[in-house]
Amino acid sequence: MILKPFMREGIMPLPVALISTLSRDGVRNIAPYSCIMPILRPLDLICLVSAARRDTLVNIRETKEFVVNMVGVGFSDKIVPTARYAPPEVDEFQVAGLEEKRSETIRAPGIAGSYAWMECALFKEYAEPGFVLIVGKVLRLEVADEVLNATGELDVAKARPLMMTGSRNGMHFCTLTDIGEFHPFGAMFPNGKDPLAGKYAE
Ligand SMILES: Cc1cc2nc3c(=O)[nH]c(=O)nc-3n(C[C@H](O)[C@H](O)[C@H](O)COP(=O)(O)O)c2cc1C
Repeated sequence: MILKPFMREGIMPLPVALISTLSRDGVRNIAPYSCIMPILRPLDLICLVSAARRDTLVNIRETKEFVVNMVGVGFSDKIVPTARYAPPEVDEFQVAGLEEKRSETIRAPGIAGSYAWMECALFKEYAEPGFVLIVGKVLRLEVADEVLNATGELDVAKARPLMMTGSRNGMHFCTLTDIGEFHPFGAMFPNGKDPLAGKYAE
């Protein structure tokens, strides 16, 4: 089957993260974002793509900070309420019935019950007429101990990260399965050593 070129998310499962921000006046905002990715390893930068008309974008521009909340499938009923248009003066934590988790490095709160939180400062933005790439610098990255395995790595069976694919009619929510295959980063290099290994040292 040939799909229209714009239907990329139909063949590419995407994460569903909730971005929490504060307005200049301190109103709490939440919006789901799926156009989100880290920028290379081992940088501490993360990129979101925002449509031009988003309270999230206004808030990030005004306050220079945001939290990327990584949520599990238990948040699937919170996505539409936070994605629906709400005027900027509406507190979207209240709309969605979500509790805040105080951030340590920025004013914008995270969302309690997420499995991981990235407290970010605006690093740079690249504006085009219809969209804006927002690059955030992750100041603090926290993950809930309950979603880690015995060696401290994310256990996707415990976290059950919320993801989605798009179709003609809407969004299909899904999650991940670990296929039990592991290769060290060093396997990509001729000498078998990961040149970035030192970055992970305590
Ligand atoms: C699963 C999902 C993923 C979304 N991903 C994005 C995205 O990556 N970028 C974006 O600009 N809007 C995205 N949206 C739409 C926004 O969440 C939606 O327009 C929301 O109302 C924006 O809220 P705000 O104006 O409070 O920022 C997504 C919506 C859903 C349901």
